[in-house]
Amino acid sequence: MRALEQPLLAVQQLTSGTLTVKYRPLMPEDFHAVKAAHAALFPIDYDDAFFHKATNGLDRIWSCAAFAAAGPYAEEQLVGFITAKTVFLHECEVSDRQHMGLLSPVVDHDTSLYILTLGVLEGFRGRGIASSLIQAASQRACETRCRALFLHVITYNTQAMGLYSMQGFACVARLSRFYFISTGRQPDPNTQVYDAYLYVQYVGGAAGLATPWDVLSLALSPVRSALARIHSCMPGFCRQQQLQQYPAGDCFPDSSTVAGEAAAAAANGSRTSNNKEIAVVDVRNSEEFSSGRVKGALNLDSTSFSDNSLIDKLVDQLQFKSQVVVHCAKSLQRGPQSAAALKQRLQELGINKQVLVMDGGFEKFGELYGSDSSVVEGGAAPKLAAAAAAAAAAAGVPSEEH
Ligand SMILES: CC(C)(COP(=O)(O)OP(=O)(O)OC[C@H]1O[C@@H](n2cnc3c(N)ncnc32)[C@H](O)[C@@H]1OP(=O)(O)O)[C@@H](O)C(=O)NCCC(=O)NCCS
Repeated sequence: MRALEQPLLAVQQLTSGTLTVKYRPLMPEDFHAVKAAHAALFPIDYDDAFFHKATNGLDRIWSCAAFAAAGPYAEEQLVGFITAKTVFLHECEVSDRQHMGLLSPVVDHDTSLYILTLGVLEGFRGRGIASSLIQAASQRACETRCRALFLHVITYNTQAMGLYSMQGFACVARLSRFYFISTGRQPDPNTQVYDAYLYVQYVGGAAGLATPWDVLSLALSPVRSALARIHSCMPGFCRQQQLQQYPAGDCFPDSSTVAGEAAAAAANGSRTSNNKEIAVVDVRNSEEFSSGRVKGALNLDSTSFSDNSLIDKLVDQLQFKSQVVVHCAKSLQRGPQSAAALKQRLQELGINKQVLVMDGGFEKFGELYGSDSSVVEGGAAPKLAAAAAAAAAAAGVPSEEH
């Protein structure tokens, strides 16, 4: 699809004062430079898979990098970058969509451009490089007919916030407990949890509140955002209100619940090469696992999550995955607890991955997808299989053995 392609290589040259700056997409040879720049500029670690995707234009990631020389005899180097991901609105957090006024199902299959990272090396700042990079992203969003360009920024980053305001972004929400930073590079090493602001720039200048659904959703948004805030303050296993969508491409996301749809997408990905970034981890015991599972799911019994060496083996298998969907039978106890242990271990190891709990566990997944052999293997949940057999018997149809 045209909207998801990386643009052709284009080099643009601009002069900021006495500095000549060239702009072009990131390329594979920029891997080490852009990785070093991220490590120098951000308090969080990104894994190599992210830099691989960003420098190869994979996984719907678009980029623009700035190159300049520090002096007349100095070599040209990477001095700034912006990376962004094209996301369908149905892939975004429901609360983000609410805050942006883009919740209508009418726009579910429209796209937005989500800014993942933006940075300019010290010594090259205050010359409009970040502004030019943001303008390149705005242009990209416009050319690919995105609805909006949006991002999250940590609440202490006043410099970046000033920049976004100057570039025509609106701050539409404060999201509590959005970032968890344990690298020690945060401003206060004793504080690991930080809020974020959500900034949005609408393509064409307005949210386009065209449908009655949009108007209703806007009217309800204060109530919903209050609920969302309460929801995000609670630990995963205490949350009653479950998210119906799954987020994609978040920079530093908080853990949350996710609908079975994400696991189905991951299972489909094992067939179609899509959604290869999502891994499904089933924490039921081996008997439960072998009686039916999400296709391609990994299995680690919840009792093993007290042993770091076993978690580390699982982490090795997750190397190329950016999102991990964890579940047990109902995802009430074992799933959320194992997800919390996995998340904690990833943080200790300095690995950035999103860990989500699948809403309703394998039982609910089986109800939704039990009959689809492309996403379930070894049979659906036992309860579902029994119900299906009973329904088949009632209808006089011989039931299938799995
Ligand atoms: C935030 C950051 C990206 C800004 O980069 P930058 O290239 O300095 O940004 P710009 O030059 O476009 O704009 C910064 C300032 O320079 C001013 N400026 C813009 N063009 C200018 C020019 N041609 N000459 C002089 N000043 C200029 C802007 O008005 C702005 O002024 P302000 O700070 O008073 O608002 C940079 O500080 C950074 O990398 N920070 C660390 C990483 C980070 O926080 N990233 C954002 C994560 S959300």
